[in-house]
Amino acid sequence: MLDKDGLIDKACEVFKKRFSHAPELVVIAPGRANLIGEHTDYNDGHVFPIAIDRFTVAAVANRRDRFFQLYTANLDEDYTFDLNRLPEKRPQWVSYVMGVIAEFEEAGFELTGKEMVVYGNIPVGSGLSSSAALEIAAATGVEKLEGLEIDDKEMVNLCRRADHRFVGVKSGPMDQFASRACRGGHAGLLDCRTLEMTHHRLPDKIDFVSIYSGIPRSLAASEYNERQASCQKAVDVLKKADPTIQALRDASPELVASQRSLLGERIYCRAKHVVTEERRVFGLMEAFEKEDLQKVGELLLEGHRSLSRDYEVSLPVLDEMVDWLYRQAGVMGARLTGAGFGGSLICLVDSAVVDLEGMTAGFLERFGQRTPEPPQLWRLRSVDGAKYQPVRRL
Ligand code: GLA
Repeated sequence: MLDKDGLIDKACEVFKKRFSHAPELVVIAPGRANLIGEHTDYNDGHVFPIAIDRFTVAAVANRRDRFFQLYTANLDEDYTFDLNRLPEKRPQWVSYVMGVIAEFEEAGFELTGKEMVVYGNIPVGSGLSSSAALEIAAATGVEKLEGLEIDDKEMVNLCRRADHRFVGVKSGPMDQFASRACRGGHAGLLDCRTLEMTHHRLPDKIDFVSIYSGIPRSLAASEYNERQASCQKAVDVLKKADPTIQALRDASPELVASQRSLLGERIYCRAKHVVTEERRVFGLMEAFEKEDLQKVGELLLEGHRSLSRDYEVSLPVLDEMVDWLYRQAGVMGARLTGAGFGGSLICLVDSAVVDLEGMTAGFLERFGQRTPEPPQLWRLRSVDGAKYQPVRRL
């Protein structure tokens, strides 16, 4: 597998072959793993992600007309469109890129066409935000080539609108914000109402292992939008008890419990997950500060159970994976990360104790025959959000 520099070299090389000249600049946008705060972002709550050392790279150059010539080296597919006549139908990967481009125009920026090659090493469908990294890479490429300085909030809102209008997923702001603004060695606490991010140093004793479950997930699946609709229904009920409530972020677990019969069991459970998860975000931050690793493990397990039992976005085999991980030496905690319905687990380990090779072998033996794709385990590092560089300095 290519590392970051390898991805950059390959994207530039492919670009030169296709367009017979070098790109003007390259953007490197990371994926993300959320440590806690799942399904809280579209409830105006808090999330606590890290940007990870898996990336999407976009090599870009300006054109003089309004055509966008795109190529993905991962799929070996190209696609050209005229910004004056956006096609109705297009492949999924194009929707992300075209979506952000269209949203620049919608926001009043008049763009010229671009040539763009994208290439990445974030497994698609793994729940590590390959699509948000693609959006941020493409959008940052457009921003810099157009000589614009767009702040993180505006950029993330622009990408989100692209998700909503072009991909059909009403995602929250977490993934794009993490890809754009997180810092290496830190987790970013994002207030999803104000879109302010503060950076919190990760304890030295903790290392991360990413576990792709081998079950790809599809975010566009109606389940994700259904969870949002349920949260909105909960808000409509809770508002009657307390008119100051605008989003589930404003409700306490006590209030939600007091309205249980009015909410009905299903909506009650959805709301309960969100309001308790919101507390776990601050609990984990505090446990990190105090280096209370026991507490870290407890909170991650509680968070996973809540996603599984109350929010119902886990699968029995994912629950088994989490339980199995908690039994391994050196594992402090593990949980489903991202939207769920498959995807990845994030596992916090003590590298002095954990034997990653042995753990991988044990995991594959136990689960390898039960998933549509082979599970993958690898050591993750937290990195800075998106960066760009002119090509001559490469
Ligand atoms: C997906 C969405 C995010 C967030 C998570 C769940 O990754 O893109 O906005 O809602 O699911 O926490």
